[in-house]
Amino acid sequence: MSSTETTAVDKGKKRSNFTGRIGYVMAAAGSAIGLGNIWRFPYLAAKYGGAVFLIVYLISVYTFGYVLIMSETVIGRKTKKSPVSAFRHFGNTKAHSFGGWINAIIPMLIAPYYSVIGGWVLYYLFSYIQGEVKELGGDNAFTNFISSGTSVEFWFLVFAVCTIAVIFFGVQNGVERVSKVLLPLLVVLSVIVCIYSCTRPGAVEGIKYFFIPQMQNVSWMTFVTAIGQMFYSLSCAMGILITYGSYMKRDVSIEKSTTQVEFFDTLIAVLAGLMIIPAVFAFNGADAAKTLKAGPSLMFITMPKVFGNMGFGMAIGIVFFLLVFLAALTSSISLMESAVSTFQDELGMSRPIATLTYSGIYIVLGTLSSLGFNVLGGVKLLGMDFLDFFDFITNSVMMPIAAIAICLLVLRSVTLKGVEDEVTYDGAPFKRKKVYNFVIKYLCIVFLVIILVSSVLNAFGIIKM
Ligand code: PHE
Repeated sequence: MSSTETTAVDKGKKRSNFTGRIGYVMAAAGSAIGLGNIWRFPYLAAKYGGAVFLIVYLISVYTFGYVLIMSETVIGRKTKKSPVSAFRHFGNTKAHSFGGWINAIIPMLIAPYYSVIGGWVLYYLFSYIQGEVKELGGDNAFTNFISSGTSVEFWFLVFAVCTIAVIFFGVQNGVERVSKVLLPLLVVLSVIVCIYSCTRPGAVEGIKYFFIPQMQNVSWMTFVTAIGQMFYSLSCAMGILITYGSYMKRDVSIEKSTTQVEFFDTLIAVLAGLMIIPAVFAFNGADAAKTLKAGPSLMFITMPKVFGNMGFGMAIGIVFFLLVFLAALTSSISLMESAVSTFQDELGMSRPIATLTYSGIYIVLGTLSSLGFNVLGGVKLLGMDFLDFFDFITNSVMMPIAAIAICLLVLRSVTLKGVEDEVTYDGAPFKRKKVYNFVIKYLCIVFLVIILVSSVLNAFGIIKM
């Protein structure tokens, strides 16, 4: 595998490639594994029924998630383009352009606010390194931090520079090289924190809470949330896997790679559940179930309290936030890669110019989210601050629409036969073909519409999720 290999595409332009399957899998798993796994998954599982949530989640990973990862990778690899041109490759209609652009714009909007949260993680990491274990566990530590516009903006910019630097170096030297080192490190760090957490006295109750169905918490929303979380966690319907598919060589097995990405993503989500839920039970005893439902604040408020109360709090705090930082970094790299690739393909920019241009937009939008909790605290969009608004608009509204566009593109333009040809191109059999065909034909679109409607109704307070 040469690290300088590229494939010639139309008009003699060269497109970068991943060196092989491992390169693709590491980058795609790096994209998939992120804040979604470590921060979002554990509190959703705790809130929506423990094992029931887990089972629904697993089934949806291996059905809907599988279909979307496969479809996007096939579309990317067949066309060797980022989302907009990839959609247009199959027809120059308004519908194709719309499908392409919605997939291309989502990562451009997610990257900035995702990096703001990445900045919070960096702040916590550095504060632990400086030994501020007790301070971070204090009641107002998090609120005090996010009310300071300068601190939040500063840490966002530090995180942004890390992401931009990797993107600047390109696909093989940047994205692939970094992911290949970070992913294994992430697995090792997760296992360490997990073992520590599960062996604390009282932790067993937490393990039970996670692995035994909690029927009192199961509702319709268990299903909607588990499926929504799965799309987010696998980085589906965000144009990213189309872009990464376009860097995948044709002798790499799409199905094998997909299976490995699903495996790594699920592994880290379950490990994160085992890091956080037992720790909360061990250190919050009677209040554990209530604490876990606190949701988003779990990682920045509850975990620091737990670290503040336990032995080796500083060391575990450092390892934990380092782990979260690395996971967030590889995800934000994928978001930015997808955005930059669209600028290169659609506006004919060189990589450095595309990187600089998008970086400008990224910093402006990220700054809005950074300042939304402090300086711009008075500005609300649909009743939300900037960060929540970008999160809502991308994940709850645009993502299901983008996923529907992908399914329609496959069914109408690529065709199931076209998918099969691409999947079996390297000579490998298409093992889960029956599942793929059934789910994409009959289930995907219906479920996506349900998720879209439920999340919008929830945002407007008509139903409660
Ligand atoms: N999948 C990432 C996570 O679990 C989040 C993400 C969403 C990354 C969309 C890229 C694109 O945190």
